[in-house]
Amino acid sequence: MTTTATAPWIYVEKIGGYDGQVVTLKGWLYNKRSSGKLHFLQVRDGTGVIQCVVFKGDVSPEVFELAGGITQESAVMVTGTVKKDDRSPIGFELGVSDVTLVNPAAEYPITPKEHGVAFLMDHRHLWLRSSRQHAIIRIRAEIIRAIRDYFDDNGFTLIDSPIFTPNACEGTSNLFETDYFENKAYLTQSGQLYVEAAAAAFGKVYCFGPTFRAEKSKTRRHLTEFWMVEPEMAYFDLAMDMDLAEDFVCHIVQQVLKHRRAELEVLERDISKLEAIQKPFPRITYDEAIEILRAAGNEDTPWGEDFGGDEETIISQKFDKPVLIHRYPAEIKAFYMKQDPENAKLALNVDMIAPEGYGEIIGGGQREDDLDVLLSKLKTHELPEEAFSWYLDIRKYGSVPHAGFGLGVERTVAWICGLHHVRETIPFPRLMDRLSP
Ligand code: 4AD
Ligand code: MG
Repeated sequence: MTTTATAPWIYVEKIGGYDGQVVTLKGWLYNKRSSGKLHFLQVRDGTGVIQCVVFKGDVSPEVFELAGGITQESAVMVTGTVKKDDRSPIGFELGVSDVTLVNPAAEYPITPKEHGVAFLMDHRHLWLRSSRQHAIIRIRAEIIRAIRDYFDDNGFTLIDSPIFTPNACEGTSNLFETDYFENKAYLTQSGQLYVEAAAAAFGKVYCFGPTFRAEKSKTRRHLTEFWMVEPEMAYFDLAMDMDLAEDFVCHIVQQVLKHRRAELEVLERDISKLEAIQKPFPRITYDEAIEILRAAGNEDTPWGEDFGGDEETIISQKFDKPVLIHRYPAEIKAFYMKQDPENAKLALNVDMIAPEGYGEIIGGGQREDDLDVLLSKLKTHELPEEAFSWYLDIRKYGSVPHAGFGLGVERTVAWICGLHHVRETIPFPRLMDRLSP
């Protein structure tokens, strides 16, 4: 026990700096196998997994017996000498001199055998400990860091928008309603209306937080609660908005490649596909997207409808980078979108579709800055003018061209990690049929 008391506590991800030294690790038993005089303990501590080799001749008989009986996910502290090992995925292993059982785990429900998705989702609180989930959530955290750094380092002011809101932003059909004293409130679908006001106060702003959509769709791309970052810039038009979106997405991918390569390898992600994400991205109009769909065998794709997941997949397969599709039919887009001065049927909006069939990751565009046009848009969308009076004020007092977009974090994580479904991209997903754990 003396070594345990004196050896420094080190995290697995820092172990490379301690070659040849005696250290203590604090973690959990991930896996174990034994052969005669040796026990091989795979110990994880939240930053990585390391093989700890317990040789009978190096430890007391009590410690050897203890090590042989530790159950999966028991909490353990292990002391030993750090040794270079070329066969190890992390390049090092631990030659154990002492083991302390902090807390023995009961029989662990998640075993190396295959489990069904429903079972794993019911055990999400434990599933997070597995190496794949660990890699995904660490990449998610890196993506979020990259998002914040990008805006913080480029002159944007963070504006926290409210979660309780009095009215809809992205259509009335997918609003979560909640009691608010004597009234009703809605969980925010987007902070956009608020960052538009803030852009007139601060120039370049962004909000970043959870967003709610009562989507009655059980697709692999829809969550009911997801995280969205929404930059908004005064004096920006659609072209500048697209330039920013492109630069921003390149930055995110580059940061993940720089800091989370090991995690991408755990996920067996094809890294060359991510390395190809460089500026410029292809830009096509909605009309050109329709042509692509028709040429791809969907001859009767109608003009004037929004694209679903299947259409997005077909279009994305034409490119090895994200594609920007701009100028959709105004009729199918939100009331706040500026109409194209060259064709009143079109909106000055843009969607960014991720490659490899991961769907729309960004939606945005230039905003209607003309008070009268906006008033008539509210009417055609049957939205109550009264509820938007504060929003209309932005057009009354020094209205300027402005633009912005929203990037969905979970779809971005799904794309970068190469995941089929968004349910694994957030620690505790909220789906139409899942509110627990
Ligand atoms: O295209 P959306 O609805 O755009 C807006 O909300 C704008 N107000 C943003 C803006 O201009 N400030 O949503 C933006 C992005 C989508 O491209 C997608 O990545 C993500 O948010 N998203 C969802 N992600 C997961 N589950 C859902 N139900 C999502 N709905 C949208
Ligand atoms: Mg959209």
